[in-house]
Amino acid sequence: MIMSGAFSIGMLSAFAVLLFLLVDRTEQLQSSQAQTLSRIQHLLNNPSVLSSWNDDTDFCNVEPNSSLTVVCYEDTVTQLHIIGEKGTPQLPENFSMDSFITTLVKLPNLKVLKLVSLGLWGPLSGKIARLSSLEIFNVSSNLLSGPIPKELSSLMSLQTMILDGNAFSGQLPHWIGQLQDLTVLSLQRNSFNGSLPSSLGDLNNLRVLSLSHNGFFGPVPDLSRLTNLQVLDLEDNSLDGPFPKMSNKLISIILKKNKFRSGIPAGLSTYYQLQLLDLSSNTFVGPFLQQLLALPSINYIDIAGNKFTGLLSENLSCNKELMFVDLSSNLLTGHLPDCLLNLRKVDVRYAGNCLSTGDQDQQPVSFCRNEALAVGILPSNKNQKRGTKTIVALGISGGTIGGIALVGLAFLLVRRNIMNKPSKTPPTRLILETVSTGYTSKILSDARYIHQTMNLGSIGLPAYRTFSLEEIGEATGNFDSSVFMGEGSHGQMYRGQLKNGSLVAIRCLKMKKSRDVQNFMHHIELISKLRHPHVVSALGHCFECHWDDTSVGRIFLIFEYVPNGTLGTWLSGGRSRQLLTWAQRIAAAIGIAKGIQFLHTGIIPGLYSNNLKISDILLDQNLIAKISSYNLPLMGENSGKDGNKSKKTASRVNHADRNDIYELGVIILELMVGQWLKTKSEIDAVKDQVQLSLAANQVARRSIIDPAIQRASSDQSLRTMMEISLRCLQSDPADQPSVEDVLWNLQFASQVQNGWRDSHSSEYSQSPGSPS
Ligand SMILES: *[C@@H]1O[C@H](CO)[C@@H](O)[C@H](O)[C@H]1NC(C)=O
Ligand SMILES: *[C@@H]1O[C@H](CO)[C@@H](O)[C@H](O)[C@H]1NC(C)=O
Ligand SMILES: *[C@@H]1O[C@H](CO)[C@@H](O)[C@H](O)[C@H]1NC(C)=O
Ligand SMILES: *[C@@H]1O[C@H](CO)[C@@H](O)[C@H](O)[C@H]1NC(C)=O
Ligand SMILES: *[C@@H]1O[C@H](CO)[C@@H](O)[C@H](O)[C@H]1NC(C)=O
Repeated sequence: MIMSGAFSIGMLSAFAVLLFLLVDRTEQLQSSQAQTLSRIQHLLNNPSVLSSWNDDTDFCNVEPNSSLTVVCYEDTVTQLHIIGEKGTPQLPENFSMDSFITTLVKLPNLKVLKLVSLGLWGPLSGKIARLSSLEIFNVSSNLLSGPIPKELSSLMSLQTMILDGNAFSGQLPHWIGQLQDLTVLSLQRNSFNGSLPSSLGDLNNLRVLSLSHNGFFGPVPDLSRLTNLQVLDLEDNSLDGPFPKMSNKLISIILKKNKFRSGIPAGLSTYYQLQLLDLSSNTFVGPFLQQLLALPSINYIDIAGNKFTGLLSENLSCNKELMFVDLSSNLLTGHLPDCLLNLRKVDVRYAGNCLSTGDQDQQPVSFCRNEALAVGILPSNKNQKRGTKTIVALGISGGTIGGIALVGLAFLLVRRNIMNKPSKTPPTRLILETVSTGYTSKILSDARYIHQTMNLGSIGLPAYRTFSLEEIGEATGNFDSSVFMGEGSHGQMYRGQLKNGSLVAIRCLKMKKSRDVQNFMHHIELISKLRHPHVVSALGHCFECHWDDTSVGRIFLIFEYVPNGTLGTWLSGGRSRQLLTWAQRIAAAIGIAKGIQFLHTGIIPGLYSNNLKISDILLDQNLIAKISSYNLPLMGENSGKDGNKSKKTASRVNHADRNDIYELGVIILELMVGQWLKTKSEIDAVKDQVQLSLAANQVARRSIIDPAIQRASSDQSLRTMMEISLRCLQSDPADQPSVEDVLWNLQFASQVQNGWRDSHSSEYSQSPGSPS
């Protein structure tokens, strides 16, 4: 057949020579190219799409159609499109890709080569690079295998390279960055693996980058210089790291089915051309940018199957052109935006969140809250972790409340006692101590009891949550100097105001070591539980990650803002404002003791050695004392010597809680004498005075206390406070009282003082300082 074809074309040429008496080189060339085309037909095993080709075919003048196109320019073939039938089987054993390419390159002027669904198999020969004018190369839906040949790097005119649906393997080579004219790179559905070369970021002309359904892993290189990039499709690989960095001109972003565990950058809300965003089936964390729903061009959003958090509200606005929105299986709370329900065109899915919609399988809000905190914990630990967490969570709210409830109960008994036999003969401390002995650990371990007491109240704070960087920037006027509150070893503090008007304190911790988010999650989990009426409570956190790796640059911890200054400023020695009454001082001491009790036993692991100072106890608008400078996890972590620290903590663990008791003793002394005691010798001097006055009489005792409270304090309560402070200040921690013991004595002093005040109300009137 070839022979006869060649022969007839040869005859034709001879005829032409005869006619024009001229050797037409162009025609000669065309005939060799015609031979090549016939040879290609043969090598491809005469596919049906080429069945019309025969010896007489004038290849350059056949009407092109979608499956077969030959384009010639000056009698040479410049375009060849052969699109076989879908599912064409592999060419037979005697097919050789190498011979096929050797034949093909006899069409040296090819600019466009599409060989689709032809059953081509075997490695792509590097000889293909002899087609040095090649601009568009599409060999999708074949069975080609092996790596991309290095020789392709010399195809400097290549604009489009499509290898989709083959069995190519190996890595995407670094030299790809040399193909500066490349506008479309599509390697979908192959077996490529390895990490993506950073040189991808050099392909300035790239419009489409489609690497979906391969085995690529690792982070996505910086694509932000690809200002022409419109389509990024990385679906179904094993990519991870931070959200890919790219220009905001993208039209379509598909990161579906990878291993991303980062948050999404706020900058995504400036992608004004974005039409399609598919982040589904990853482990994206942090707040879902609700502005995305209102992007000017958006019509498709799929974030299903991640760990996005956030409170949706009915108020949100969304783009009217939205066609598809899938929010399913995330940790979203709040209400489904009305705009999604009102759009007729839109297909909205939201099952498996914690939205208050009453349909589509929503979880309780607590589930999302707990899960949001568990983000970053490896799945293998997850069940175990979750179990612990629930108990711990109950332990906090329930434990404290349980404690309060029990105190309240015993208190009623005591109170009734006092009523019956008024203040002169209060019950002895012995009884109180018997009641209090060892209740804490037992109750904390009895989850059922805790559960029953949980409904006794909550601390009235918004739920712990993650904040977005944007939100924090807004709250602080981008960290304006006017909201800077101070800087200590625990990082900078800023005052902020959230959108809902509430004030917060934001602590900014710069991380020295490069660690990724997961390394901090166990700390965050603990911090999220730091919520108690007598502890400056955590409201949320926010990670700021570096773009170039997964590491955390800064962590922002958001705390409740406590407006009324430090306890120290409310004493005579502080002299900056109105002074606290004796009853208010006892109430403050009770608050601190409860705060300590919570830090030691209300969370697991407890926080000990909190370095409590009167200048670190804050008062809120109701003069409720709150501990602000507790031994926050993360701080030690960041100091770079955590190894030593944990060892030290371990060896001291038995008496670690006693340090806090000692410091509480100092604070009680300070409350009594109205002075800050800064040095050990100052403390010892006052301690000695107190000791002496206890052994002496009421006049002696009154003489050493803050003049502001001398007249308005009952001697019995003063004595109780003095006794308990001295016990707290015992040098041997084993001799110090437990925090429960301290608490009971303080409660007792408070009762006595209130009883005394009631009976002296005619001569002395003052607003009650009520212990909480
Ligand atoms: C391959 O073998 C078949 C017969 O088995 C034959 O018809 C065909 O021409 C051969 N193709 C090549 C390229 O040799
Ligand atoms: C395209 O044209 C060829 C002949 O030139 C023919 O065999 C083939 O069936 C056509 N395909 C379509 C899709 O029209
Ligand atoms: C490759 O060519 C085939 C056949 O024309 C076409 O269906 C496919 O879309 C092309 N691939 C790309 C990525 O353009
Ligand atoms: C990549 O794939 C090849 C086979 O295609 C395999 O030999 C190699 O181990 C893989 N590399 C990695 C890092 O998985
Ligand atoms: C909804 O919007 C109105 C006015 O824009 C505002 O007053 C209200 O607080 C918003 N509600 C929520 C839940 O955001």
